Amino acid sequence: MEQSRPIGLFDSGIGGLTVLQEVRRLLPGESVLYFGDTAYVPYGSRSAAELVALGHRIIEFLVGMGVKYVIFACNTSSSISLGILRQRFRVPMVGLVEPGAAAAVRATRNGRVGLLATEATVRAGAYERAMKRMAPEVRVFSQAAPRLVPLVEAGQMGTPAAREAVAEYLAPLLDKGIDTLLLGCTHYPFLLPEILEVGGTGLKIVDPAAATVAAARGEMGRLSLLNNPSSGGPRYSFFVSGDPEAFAHGARTFLGFRPEVTRVYLPVKSF
Ligand code: DGL
Repeated sequence: MEQSRPIGLFDSGIGGLTVLQEVRRLLPGESVLYFGDTAYVPYGSRSAAELVALGHRIIEFLVGMGVKYVIFACNTSSSISLGILRQRFRVPMVGLVEPGAAAAVRATRNGRVGLLATEATVRAGAYERAMKRMAPEVRVFSQAAPRLVPLVEAGQMGTPAAREAVAEYLAPLLDKGIDTLLLGCTHYPFLLPEILEVGGTGLKIVDPAAATVAAARGEMGRLSLLNNPSSGGPRYSFFVSGDPEAFAHGARTFLGFRPEVTRVYLPVKSF
């Protein structure tokens, strides 16, 4: 049955679990196949060519496993490789940028949005372009935060190092008078306590995950891909390119269960 096939989600590591959480909430009847490219994390310091090559083999793997739809649970890949990979594969795909940009321009009252993201996402400028197109009057201030993904992957949330890094990266954005902070990397919701502490209660936080999964649900509905809930409960399967134990450990607290994680070897063709 076409509709009972899983949705594919991928990220460089555990960040995409923040998107999986929204899939469980908004698409509770859907099974998911999650791929964490932990042998190549962090993506944020990689070139566009590397990101396309890494993404290509992941989509190939997901399609080979029979997914009916792909959600890019990674802003860096959404910003850089989604457009190219859409042209190479027939499977429908959605990324975080368009829904995230729309949510941010809806949220701001003073027209000043801060984007906290990886170096590659900031360099790509996809969020800025999308927001300019949607609301030309909105000013976007971007800040790359290269230390945050390694901190999250290492389970360092709640530590002084995490608080210091968040404070350092948010300071220039807060100086610009932003009223809305767009979390432009799926790892950052893991650092929400630190972000709220530094940003204060007046700052609106926009996580693109919910809007993205809502967009995926809409498109899957139009394509008649939504699962019929009577066909059994959802199944979640996890695959990584790096250490499965490390992923299972990092994912456990967040998911509320310890996932079974399988390592797969996906060769990279062009770098
Ligand atoms: N979580 C990904 C993102 O949303 C990738 C971060 C990284 O590996 O640098 O951008």
